[in-house]
Amino acid sequence: MNDGDGIREAEASGKRFGPLGTALVIIPTYNEAENIKAIVGRVRSAVPEAHVLVADDNSPDGTGKLADELAAEDDHVQVLHRKGKEGLGAAYLAGFRWGLDNGYGVLVEMDADGSHRPEELPRLLTALKSADLVLGSRWVPGGRVVNWPKSREFISRGGSLYSRVALDLPLRDITGGYRAFRRETLEGLGLDDVASQGYCFQVDLARRSVKAGYHVIEVPITFVERELGDSKMSRDILVEALWRVTTWGAQERAGKLLGRAKRPPLPPRS
Ligand code: GDD
Ligand code: MN
Repeated sequence: MNDGDGIREAEASGKRFGPLGTALVIIPTYNEAENIKAIVGRVRSAVPEAHVLVADDNSPDGTGKLADELAAEDDHVQVLHRKGKEGLGAAYLAGFRWGLDNGYGVLVEMDADGSHRPEELPRLLTALKSADLVLGSRWVPGGRVVNWPKSREFISRGGSLYSRVALDLPLRDITGGYRAFRRETLEGLGLDDVASQGYCFQVDLARRSVKAGYHVIEVPITFVERELGDSKMSRDILVEALWRVTTWGAQERAGKLLGRAKRPPLPPRS
């Protein structure tokens, strides 16, 4: 996992992976007018064969209109206009559905604010050749954050640690939002019953992927705090995450206990 590109471990798993199809980079936006042009441009230069889908929640600052202008001059750029702010999870679910319906082989999650550097995407896609899901990870050796206030780092590291322990996941960056999925992985996750709205959507998908037995690799990334616009992180998003992760953890523990109770008794010794 810490050989720099995460590939050695995947090869060691022995699973065979098919070729990667065309990638769709889904960028959810809410008030990212200052960032949208730069991020789309960077994705287009970093991975010219990939397509971009901006999933905008009717941003009051006109992000959706700017995205339409980009789409008008580039056939690799599309815009999904949603009626209002419904959270990161709902925007990604709609983006995934659109991407699956339109035949893409790889679905990428990326923030609009430059925190997830498009220049690192080729590394994630290379790792995906021998994985079902690749997580860009701040908390594996080689990963780091730049310009993040200590308070945010504390919340993020704490959130990952809590999720790791409560849900028994062998992952370091469970809340991160820079990821590449094979389409088959998303098809196998049962997206129809995902209820997570905010950033706990990321934990939800990581948890479902591990439980489904998919091969998940973490690749180190450098997360750069945004320079323009504002974070949408809020108290409500934190509360939803804490509540959901705790509930999932309790359900899993109860399930394991019940499973143990139902196991047939040992045969009598002869
Ligand atoms: N469409 C839509 N709807 N987009 C949204 C919404 C929403 O309700 N809320 C946030 N976004 C978009 C933002 O416009 C941005 O492109 C991306 O989602 C991430 O939002 P930020 O507000 O920049 O997140 P952050 O920097 O505070 O949080 C980062 O860390 C979290 C915790 O590790 C991100 O990497 C998150 O993905 C991550 O979960
Ligand atoms: Mn951000």
